[in-house]
Amino acid sequence: MRIAILTSGGDAPGMNAAIRAVVRAGSQRNWDVVGVLEGFRGLMAGDFQPLDSRAVGGIMQLGGTMLRSARAPEFSGAVGQEAALQQLAQRNIDGLVVVGGNGSQRGSLALSRLGFPVVGLASTIDNDLWGVDVSLGVDTALNVVLESLDRIRSTASSHGRIFLVEVMGRDCGYLALNAGIAGGAEIIAIPETDSDELDLMVELRDAFDRKGYAVGVVAEGWRGGAAGLARAFAEAQLDDNAPRVRLTILGHVQRGGTPTYADRMLGTRLGAAAVACLAHGEHGVLLGSHEGRLRALTLEQVGSRQKDLDAELLLIAQTLRD
Ligand code: F6P
Repeated sequence: MRIAILTSGGDAPGMNAAIRAVVRAGSQRNWDVVGVLEGFRGLMAGDFQPLDSRAVGGIMQLGGTMLRSARAPEFSGAVGQEAALQQLAQRNIDGLVVVGGNGSQRGSLALSRLGFPVVGLASTIDNDLWGVDVSLGVDTALNVVLESLDRIRSTASSHGRIFLVEVMGRDCGYLALNAGIAGGAEIIAIPETDSDELDLMVELRDAFDRKGYAVGVVAEGWRGGAAGLARAFAEAQLDDNAPRVRLTILGHVQRGGTPTYADRMLGTRLGAAAVACLAHGEHGVLLGSHEGRLRALTLEQVGSRQKDLDAELLLIAQTLRD
């Protein structure tokens, strides 16, 4: 057997652990494993690199992905997909592992529909893949956001300021909601609840008046993001003593850096499971964590379905305000 692995879309801490596990579990079976550079772009262009057990030594603790990643919109068209199939056929590759999020797994589905054996591994800090509780990279990203919130809270309270912190997640409020709850945010603005701008401003100001400072978490997908809310707050001039809002956009620090224990373990388990799936002839699936265990969903099932946020957490976010 000869298999290939690629990492695609936004990188996520733990991708290297997944690559390492695929290569080593494949090598155990005397398979050849080939790395594809820069995701679907490299697949279409034929940028392949043979990988053996040694080649993936010392990468587990590194953030990012040793195979590099890219966004390749051309792959959504028939020409790109045909080019990829030709590259795979020329190298006699029998199966492909795709580590990535929503967009990447739509690419997996396209290849799978064309008859190529693909196993997807759920990996995105956005945690927006349907049917998957926690994707690869989420734990690290959450901890980075949390640490940042803790740090911002200390300076906010020292100076008596209001901070709005923008968290990634594209259209999904998962990171903002979870980090906001665990970080004790005074307000959490996420696209799913589409909170009213004025309500948020009033809540923020009330919290400031009670505590002398306030920290709000805003998902990047919420209307105008944190910058929009900060601008609205400044323009509203609620009264002459209205405090100025400081803005922190966390950005790509959330995606970079050392993966946590949980992400190293999840990447390792996903990688090993991908090889087991291909060995058993199981493909056209997305592997992800569900209630603490790995499960395989068909790529067709996952498709473009939208993942809902946990209703209980949405309620908790409301309940815990003081
Ligand atoms: O999908 C992961 C993610 O980090 C999103 O949260 C964010 O909106 C997007 O990628 C940023 O993309 P890029 O790194 O291409 O700017």
